Amino acid sequence: MDVTLREVRESDLAVFYRQTTDPEGIRMAAFTAEDPSDRARFDAHWARLRHDPAVLTRTVVGTRGEVLGHIGVFGPPGEREVTYWIGREYWGRGAATAALRALLAAVPDRPLHAQAAADNVGSLRVLDACGFTVTGHERGYANARGEEIDEVVLTLTG
Ligand SMILES: CC(C)(COP(=O)(O)OP(=O)(O)OC[C@H]1O[C@@H](n2cnc3c(N)ncnc32)[C@H](O)[C@@H]1OP(=O)(O)O)[C@@H](O)C(=O)NCCC(=O)NCCS
Repeated sequence: MDVTLREVRESDLAVFYRQTTDPEGIRMAAFTAEDPSDRARFDAHWARLRHDPAVLTRTVVGTRGEVLGHIGVFGPPGEREVTYWIGREYWGRGAATAALRALLAAVPDRPLHAQAAADNVGSLRVLDACGFTVTGHERGYANARGEEIDEVVLTLTG
Protein backbone atom coordinates (compact mmCIF):
# COMPACT_ATOMS: atom_id res chain seq x y z
CA MET A 1 0.00 0.00 0.00
CA ASP A 2 1.28 3.48 -0.89
CA VAL A 3 1.12 5.93 1.98
CA THR A 4 2.58 9.33 2.67
CA LEU A 5 3.22 11.05 5.98
CA ARG A 6 2.47 14.71 6.46
CA GLU A 7 2.08 17.16 9.33
CA VAL A 8 -1.08 16.77 11.36
CA ARG A 9 -3.80 19.27 10.42
CA GLU A 10 -6.59 20.48 12.66
CA SER A 11 -9.11 18.81 10.34
CA ASP A 12 -7.42 15.40 10.87
CA LEU A 13 -8.30 15.38 14.56
CA ALA A 14 -11.97 14.50 14.05
CA VAL A 15 -10.85 11.46 12.03
CA PHE A 16 -8.29 10.44 14.67
CA TYR A 17 -10.98 10.77 17.34
CA ARG A 18 -13.31 8.45 15.42
CA GLN A 19 -10.50 5.97 14.77
CA THR A 20 -9.20 5.90 18.35
CA THR A 21 -12.66 5.46 19.86
CA ASP A 22 -13.34 2.31 17.84
CA PRO A 23 -13.93 -0.44 20.44
CA GLU A 24 -12.06 -3.10 18.45
CA GLY A 25 -9.01 -0.86 18.03
CA ILE A 26 -9.09 0.11 21.70
CA ARG A 27 -9.21 -3.54 22.78
CA MET A 28 -6.30 -4.36 20.47
CA ALA A 29 -4.10 -1.42 21.56
CA ALA A 30 -5.02 -2.20 25.21
CA PHE A 31 -2.78 0.50 26.76
CA THR A 32 -5.09 3.41 26.04
CA ALA A 33 -6.38 6.36 28.02
CA GLU A 34 -8.81 5.46 30.79
CA ASP A 35 -11.68 6.95 28.79
CA PRO A 36 -10.70 7.32 25.11
CA SER A 37 -14.09 8.89 24.34
CA ASP A 38 -13.40 11.89 26.63
CA ARG A 39 -13.21 14.55 23.91
CA ALA A 40 -11.76 17.26 26.18
CA ARG A 41 -8.91 14.93 27.19
CA PHE A 42 -8.38 13.96 23.53
CA ASP A 43 -8.20 17.63 22.45
CA ALA A 44 -5.80 18.56 25.27
CA HIS A 45 -3.63 15.51 24.49
CA TRP A 46 -3.35 16.40 20.80
CA ALA A 47 -2.72 20.07 21.55
CA ARG A 48 0.21 18.97 23.75
CA LEU A 49 1.56 16.50 21.17
CA ARG A 50 1.44 19.02 18.34
CA HIS A 51 3.37 21.64 20.33
CA ASP A 52 5.93 19.45 22.06
CA PRO A 53 9.26 19.69 20.19
CA ALA A 54 10.23 16.23 21.56
CA VAL A 55 7.22 14.63 19.85
CA LEU A 56 6.92 13.99 16.13
CA THR A 57 3.41 13.16 14.94
CA ARG A 58 2.40 12.56 11.35
CA THR A 59 -0.85 11.88 9.57
CA VAL A 60 -0.80 8.72 7.44
CA VAL A 61 -2.43 9.53 4.11
CA GLY A 62 -3.55 7.18 1.35
CA THR A 63 -3.24 7.70 -2.40
CA ARG A 64 -6.62 9.46 -2.67
CA GLY A 65 -5.79 11.80 0.19
CA GLU A 66 -7.77 9.81 2.74
CA VAL A 67 -6.61 9.96 6.37
CA LEU A 68 -5.64 6.37 7.18
CA GLY A 69 -4.42 7.09 10.71
CA HIS A 70 -1.49 8.57 12.57
CA ILE A 71 2.03 7.64 13.59
CA GLY A 72 4.58 9.24 15.85
CA VAL A 73 7.78 9.16 17.87
CA PHE A 74 8.11 10.40 21.44
CA GLY A 75 10.37 10.18 24.47
CA PRO A 76 13.84 11.36 25.51
CA PRO A 77 17.00 10.56 23.49
CA GLY A 78 17.95 6.90 23.80
CA GLU A 79 14.39 6.02 24.84
CA ARG A 80 12.52 7.22 21.75
CA GLU A 81 9.42 5.15 21.11
CA VAL A 82 7.14 4.72 18.10
CA THR A 83 3.35 4.63 18.21
CA TYR A 84 0.70 4.30 15.50
CA TRP A 85 -3.00 3.79 14.89
CA ILE A 86 -4.74 2.94 11.62
CA GLY A 87 -8.51 3.29 11.15
CA ARG A 88 -10.28 -0.08 11.18
CA GLU A 89 -11.64 0.24 7.62
CA TYR A 90 -8.03 0.24 6.35
CA TRP A 91 -6.66 -2.69 8.38
CA GLY A 92 -4.90 -5.59 6.72
CA ARG A 93 -3.76 -3.71 3.61
CA GLY A 94 -0.21 -2.89 4.66
CA ALA A 95 -0.89 0.70 5.78
CA ALA A 96 0.81 0.40 9.17
CA THR A 97 3.85 -1.38 7.76
CA ALA A 98 4.23 1.23 5.00
CA ALA A 99 3.73 4.10 7.45
CA LEU A 100 6.32 2.74 9.89
CA ARG A 101 8.81 2.18 7.05
CA ALA A 102 8.29 5.80 5.93
CA LEU A 103 8.71 7.06 9.49
CA LEU A 104 11.92 5.07 10.01
CA ALA A 105 13.33 6.50 6.80
CA ALA A 106 12.56 10.04 7.97
CA VAL A 107 13.68 9.72 11.61
CA PRO A 108 17.40 9.04 12.22
CA ASP A 109 17.09 8.36 16.00
CA ARG A 110 18.33 4.93 17.06
CA PRO A 111 17.70 2.95 19.09
CA LEU A 112 13.94 3.20 18.70
CA HIS A 113 11.62 1.30 20.99
CA ALA A 114 8.06 0.03 20.79
CA GLN A 115 5.67 -1.68 23.16
CA ALA A 116 2.66 -3.78 22.30
CA ALA A 117 0.20 -5.99 24.12
CA ALA A 118 1.50 -9.55 23.76
CA ASP A 119 -1.74 -10.50 21.96
CA ASN A 120 -1.63 -7.57 19.50
CA VAL A 121 -0.50 -9.85 16.68
CA GLY A 122 -1.00 -7.22 13.96
CA SER A 123 1.21 -4.66 15.67
CA LEU A 124 3.90 -7.24 16.44
CA ARG A 125 3.96 -8.26 12.76
CA VAL A 126 4.29 -4.64 11.67
CA LEU A 127 7.24 -4.14 14.03
CA ASP A 128 8.91 -7.39 12.98
CA ALA A 129 8.53 -6.48 9.28
CA CYS A 130 10.27 -3.17 9.99
CA GLY A 131 13.26 -4.75 11.76
CA PHE A 132 12.32 -4.41 15.43
CA THR A 133 13.35 -7.31 17.65
CA VAL A 134 11.92 -8.39 20.98
CA THR A 135 14.09 -7.12 23.86
CA GLY A 136 11.82 -7.60 26.84
CA HIS A 137 8.59 -8.77 28.38
CA GLU A 138 6.65 -6.83 30.98
CA ARG A 139 3.32 -6.83 32.77
CA GLY A 140 1.33 -3.64 32.71
CA TYR A 141 -2.13 -2.42 33.61
CA ALA A 142 -4.17 -2.04 30.42
CA ASN A 143 -7.08 0.38 30.79
CA ALA A 144 -8.91 -1.20 27.86
CA ARG A 145 -8.80 -4.65 29.46
CA GLY A 146 -9.32 -3.58 33.08
CA GLU A 147 -6.43 -5.78 34.21
CA GLU A 148 -2.68 -6.37 34.02
CA ILE A 149 -1.63 -8.05 30.81
CA ASP A 150 1.57 -9.22 29.14
CA GLU A 151 3.41 -6.61 27.14
CA VAL A 152 6.26 -7.04 24.65
CA VAL A 153 9.09 -4.52 24.41
CA LEU A 154 10.86 -4.24 21.05
CA THR A 155 13.90 -2.32 19.84
CA LEU A 156 15.29 -1.23 16.50
CA THR A 157 19.01 -0.60 16.60
CA GLY A 158 20.10 -0.36 12.96
C1 LIG B 1 -2.07 -2.91 14.65
C2 LIG B 1 -2.41 -2.07 13.42
C3 LIG B 1 -1.56 -0.81 13.45
C4 LIG B 1 -2.09 -2.88 12.16
O1 LIG B 1 -2.36 -2.03 11.05
P1 LIG B 1 -2.53 -2.62 9.56
O2 LIG B 1 -2.46 -1.47 8.62
O3 LIG B 1 -3.70 -3.51 9.51
O4 LIG B 1 -1.20 -3.50 9.46
P2 LIG B 1 -0.61 -4.14 8.11
O5 LIG B 1 -1.69 -4.23 7.09
O6 LIG B 1 0.63 -3.40 7.77
O7 LIG B 1 -0.33 -5.63 8.62
C5 LIG B 1 0.92 -6.14 8.97
C6 LIG B 1 0.79 -7.63 9.20
O8 LIG B 1 -0.03 -7.88 10.36
C7 LIG B 1 -1.10 -8.73 10.02
N1 LIG B 1 -2.26 -8.30 10.81
C8 LIG B 1 -2.83 -7.07 10.84
N2 LIG B 1 -3.84 -7.07 11.75
C9 LIG B 1 -3.90 -8.32 12.27
C10 LIG B 1 -4.73 -8.95 13.23
N3 LIG B 1 -5.72 -8.30 13.85
N4 LIG B 1 -4.50 -10.25 13.53
C11 LIG B 1 -3.51 -10.93 12.92
N5 LIG B 1 -2.69 -10.39 11.99
C12 LIG B 1 -2.88 -9.10 11.68
C13 LIG B 1 -1.31 -8.52 8.54
O9 LIG B 1 -1.96 -9.61 7.95
C14 LIG B 1 0.12 -8.38 8.06
O10 LIG B 1 0.69 -9.66 7.99
P3 LIG B 1 1.86 -10.01 6.94
O11 LIG B 1 3.06 -9.24 7.42
O12 LIG B 1 2.00 -11.47 7.06
O13 LIG B 1 1.37 -9.54 5.61
C15 LIG B 1 -3.92 -1.68 13.40
O14 LIG B 1 -4.71 -2.84 13.54
C16 LIG B 1 -4.32 -0.71 14.48
O15 LIG B 1 -4.12 0.51 14.34
N6 LIG B 1 -4.88 -1.21 15.61
C17 LIG B 1 -5.36 -0.38 16.70
C18 LIG B 1 -4.26 0.45 17.36
C19 LIG B 1 -3.03 -0.36 17.72
O16 LIG B 1 -3.11 -1.51 18.12
N7 LIG B 1 -1.85 0.30 17.59
C20 LIG B 1 -0.59 -0.31 17.93
C21 LIG B 1 -0.37 -0.23 19.41
S1 LIG B 1 1.15 -1.07 19.86
